Amino acid sequence: EGYPQQFPKNFLWGGATAANQVEGAWNVDGKGLTTAEVVKKADDRKKISMDAVTKESIETAIADPTDKNYPKRRGVDFYHHYKEDIQLFAEMGFKIYRFSIAWARVFPNGDETEPNQAGLQFYDDVISELEQYHILPLVTLSHYEMPIGLTKKQNGWLSRDTIADFNRFTETIFKHFKGRVPYYLTFNEINTGVWGFHETGVVDSDQSHQEQLQTRYQALHHQFVASAIATKQLHEIDPDAKIGSMLARMQTYPATPNPADVQAAQMEDDKNLFFTDVQARGEYPEYMNRYFAENNIKLKMAPDDQELLKKYPVDFISFSYYMTTVTKANQGAEVNGNMATGGRNPYLEESDWGWQIDPVGLRISLDEMWDRYRKPLFVVENGLGAVDKFEDGTVHDAYRIDYLRKHIEQMKQAIEDGVDLMGYTMWGPIDLISFSTSEMSKRYGFIYVDQDDDGNGTLKRYKKDSFNWYKQVIASNGADL
Ligand code: BG6
Repeated sequence: EGYPQQFPKNFLWGGATAANQVEGAWNVDGKGLTTAEVVKKADDRKKISMDAVTKESIETAIADPTDKNYPKRRGVDFYHHYKEDIQLFAEMGFKIYRFSIAWARVFPNGDETEPNQAGLQFYDDVISELEQYHILPLVTLSHYEMPIGLTKKQNGWLSRDTIADFNRFTETIFKHFKGRVPYYLTFNEINTGVWGFHETGVVDSDQSHQEQLQTRYQALHHQFVASAIATKQLHEIDPDAKIGSMLARMQTYPATPNPADVQAAQMEDDKNLFFTDVQARGEYPEYMNRYFAENNIKLKMAPDDQELLKKYPVDFISFSYYMTTVTKANQGAEVNGNMATGGRNPYLEESDWGWQIDPVGLRISLDEMWDRYRKPLFVVENGLGAVDKFEDGTVHDAYRIDYLRKHIEQMKQAIEDGVDLMGYTMWGPIDLISFSTSEMSKRYGFIYVDQDDDGNGTLKRYKKDSFNWYKQVIASNGADL
């Protein structure tokens, strides 16, 4: 008594995907080529495949009309299977489905003045299908892709012109889907823009590390401004809809109780939360001034930028949660799995890709972010990428159930701690192409898709054991785990 001991009645259970990882149909119905579709599959499971994008590799990719080396061109053909897939989501009882709208379906080159109607039509169809089952759409406006035309023309988000191009797209979407989409996110995992290309469409492979930092924080500044403008647009066009930020949350723990290590961890953590600080509090935090000065980063801002950020913060805060990391004072760059940098945590197990599994860290992050922002939170990604063994038409994925159960238990703890948590969209309810390595064999789904890393397979869908488990979780509103 006196505190909530269960998931709220209207808790939004569901799943999340991204256009470039599921849709396929990369050159169908007028769609333009995107930045995600010029990235090759990684040669090494432990290395992220985005690292190697150069001007030359983009030209080679553009000249290649196949999907052989570029798995995000084929996805899992959601474009032609969306009815069947949404029906399966409905069978699990989804209340919400997070997906992204591919900018290049709507504005193929990014700089057109009029939208491609066939592109809008596809998302009309998807949303109509969801409506039939009373599944709410949660739409990501930019999930790790943009028209390659904007990279070629103006080096992606490094150019201030991209703000107007993006906000022409967002205005089109808000007007077109007015009253039908209750929740939007602007940029997926916006903090990964410090890694460059996949988030910002910026090619800077010929720059020094310092120059890259300058370039990337400048591109990110443009995304912050575009996000604030999108918030303004949405509130004017569709006042009942809400818009959120999206962070790849990566909590940093100190390697020891040595205050120097604790302080180093706090700084790393601030550098992660910086992005949400800007988008939720509406201003650049002071601690970044020192970081910018020490790294000789000078941001160019237009006179109104700061006022825009202040006036149009996000309505809610979302994040993905996969892992935590460890640091100590004066630690050099150590690599942790194929994504995080930082040290290993001896108390945690890890996935085959080296991602350290830390359910309690989810509660810590939720509690900390609720304290810091006092805005509703939404876990819009969490899941386990694993090698699944398909036999007799199914997968016995007890390891996936175990992973998800432990994270959901910790969300419940956070709710008991008083956190205002809107929902949970598990990542990859259906197997899809991995973001970081473009593998098919890194599977997250409740639904198995018959396709291998080279694109061979029938694309038939099968239910894994976790399918029925998640169905029961939703039916019991998180009580029956
Ligand atoms: C997040 C992304 O980084 O993690 C998703 O928003 C991605 O797009 C997910 O798929 C898991 O990463 P990966 O590399 O295992 O697909």
